[in-house]
Amino acid sequence: MAATTIAKLPEHVGQTVTLQGWLYNSRSSGKLLFLIVRDGTGLCQCVFEKTDANADLFAEAKKLSQESSLEVTGEVRAESRSVGGHELTVSDVRIIQNAEGYPITPKAHGIEFLMKHRHLWFRSQRQWAILRVRHTVVNAIREYFNSNDFVLIDTPIFAPAAGEGAQTLFEVNYFGDPVYLAQTGQLYVESALMAHRKVYCFGPTFRAEKSKTRRHLTEFWMVEPEITYADLDDVVALAEDFTYSLVQTVLRERRAELELLGRDLSKLECITKPFERMTYSQAVDVLHSDDVQKMLADDLERAKARVTELQKLIDDKEDERTAPGTKQWKVDKLAQEVLDHREELADQEDAVRNIPHHMELAKNFEWGSDLGGSDETIIARLHEKPTFVTHYPRDCKAFYMKQNADDPRVVNNLDMLAPEGYGEIIGGSQREDNLDAILERIAHEQLPQEEYEWYLDLRRYGSVPHGGFGLGVERTVAWLCGLKHIRETIPFARMMGRIYP
Ligand code: 4AD
Ligand code: MG
Repeated sequence: MAATTIAKLPEHVGQTVTLQGWLYNSRSSGKLLFLIVRDGTGLCQCVFEKTDANADLFAEAKKLSQESSLEVTGEVRAESRSVGGHELTVSDVRIIQNAEGYPITPKAHGIEFLMKHRHLWFRSQRQWAILRVRHTVVNAIREYFNSNDFVLIDTPIFAPAAGEGAQTLFEVNYFGDPVYLAQTGQLYVESALMAHRKVYCFGPTFRAEKSKTRRHLTEFWMVEPEITYADLDDVVALAEDFTYSLVQTVLRERRAELELLGRDLSKLECITKPFERMTYSQAVDVLHSDDVQKMLADDLERAKARVTELQKLIDDKEDERTAPGTKQWKVDKLAQEVLDHREELADQEDAVRNIPHHMELAKNFEWGSDLGGSDETIIARLHEKPTFVTHYPRDCKAFYMKQNADDPRVVNNLDMLAPEGYGEIIGGSQREDNLDAILERIAHEQLPQEEYEWYLDLRRYGSVPHGGFGLGVERTVAWLCGLKHIRETIPFARMMGRIYP
């Protein structure tokens, strides 16, 4: 029998096919056994009817536990009420392995347990959907640059010097000498730029982030395009067109996955060009405004009310769960709901604790410091579309950024903040192309000039205005999927305190 996949079932209606997969779930009622099979491309309900001839096989199939591997043969029927829209009327089942005691059951599991079982958690529907969105984002990134005449430049992972600030360097012993895991490929990509006009690098980057936040990984993927004869406006225009194209691709190709994740698609559909744009100084004025204080005060009231509400929900559901006579499936369902409520409660309690602090930070924000996570969230929340914040103070940004000609206190840089509080997903700038200015910055930051001599050569031999940016894949996927935490957007998350599996 021809083996096919669940995704291709629409092409096989009325035919007999074989699916090769795993048992996602099953239930029986009398002579009927409903096997929900997943095969990596989707889910399909396979209906197995008991007859005198297949009684033994039926009994065996009925005993199969979750995640058993099996091949199911049957006739394909269109069935709009069924998951995936098609069903199989089973004529044969071949059991490959009965998986006993699969740890991730339909029962409730906390996030620690799930992260420890990441190698199995992949098979759950939500995780399956997220990694498919990630795949499409990664592919769309490559497509965008390849089809717009950018040349891919693979930059090294072992780096002799810092690219983005010495505090987050991972040191590696390189035959007795200290070198660092790359924080960025940018400086290398800049040199290739002068040979190819438009270039990009795309790979893993490393930052020793010592804080455990929703937005930080120690190993993450970044794409970094770089363009010549370009100023800040050109870089902003590229970032805008690129981000817009990612949103469109995901909406077009991964709608089903986003729906499965419960993503509010209207929040992505309303994104059009141009995006919002403001300067750092304007952002500071926003932070100081009464409107922001009022917005946060409202947030605080809402969080407090939700805490009370959640506490009551948890109490009620616990009572119901532990009451004598509650059916097992109901007990499991309530347990999961209570767990979800507790996770949300912890978040809301955090919010109640933190919002007053964020109000203080916004009110007392001083021109000159970098925007913090809470400041970014505030600014981005004011708009439905991504917001570019440009022209940050020179002293809080990297040494390679171009000093502004009209206001020497600031640089020609951009951060792009995603809406809905997702914060910075793009950071970039026009680069300092003047040798004396960049030497001054290297001295000012006490960087070892000898390690940057090759980079300085780019300013000595045919220097031109140029610039680029970096987009973090995981923050982008978290935003597109509407996830609270970045940890589910990469197959195996690396964070402070997390390196297994
Ligand atoms: O703003 P960053 O540090 O910029 C650079 O590295 C530049 N060299 C890029 C360039 O101009 N070529 O980082 C760029 C992006 C951030 O906006 C964010 O999306 C992501 O990389 N990022 C992280 N993602 C996850 N975990 C972390 N610890 C991240 N740090 C940065
Ligand atoms: Mg940044």
